[in-house]
Amino acid sequence: MKIAVFASGNGSNFQALVDYFKKNRLSATIEWLFCDQPHAYVLQRAKKAQVPSTCFSPKEFASKTEYEQAILEELANREIDLIVLAGYMRIVGEGLLSIYENKMINIHPSLLPNFPGLHGIRDAFEAGVEETGVTVHYIDRGVDTGPIIRQEKVVIEKEDTLATLEQKIHQIEHQIFPEVIAKIVNMGDVNK
Ligand code: GAR
Repeated sequence: MKIAVFASGNGSNFQALVDYFKKNRLSATIEWLFCDQPHAYVLQRAKKAQVPSTCFSPKEFASKTEYEQAILEELANREIDLIVLAGYMRIVGEGLLSIYENKMINIHPSLLPNFPGLHGIRDAFEAGVEETGVTVHYIDRGVDTGPIIRQEKVVIEKEDTLATLEQKIHQIEHQIFPEVIAKIVNMGDVNK
């Protein structure tokens, strides 16, 4: 199975996946990193990990359709089976969905359907809820609405600050995301 990771920022989840794949024997490889932000730190992580990467942004294209078409060409050239969204901060469009429906997995830093969107951790913290968490789910046509594969709760303690909560959430993400991907790889078919 050939995997592509999409990311837009720091790339700590990309790193967790790379490290897990290095440590564990899996019948899959991380073939490619796609990034839509030219200054994102994840690009340096990919270089260091010797994962081929490509970066371009929708601004360079006349439309989102053309942007996704360019991504699809790269995916086809690399024969990618599964797309893993690890902090890819864009809504996936019809182009990618038409080919990779049920073959795109996202991680989101809240207990969906609560706190979807760009600021899942902050929104939960500011709402004053007692627990939040992490969700791994398939991508569908909604925003953070696809079928849930795994959720893990994180308790928000009285002493927590936004920074400590972020730390806790990321720790859980780095643990469960590789586990979920490994499970899907071990099943041998992304849709079984
Ligand atoms: C992660 O917390 C991920 O769950 C979140 O972006 C962060 C990326 O961190 N994704 C979303 O909010 C998607 N809606 P990273 O670049 O260090 O992996």
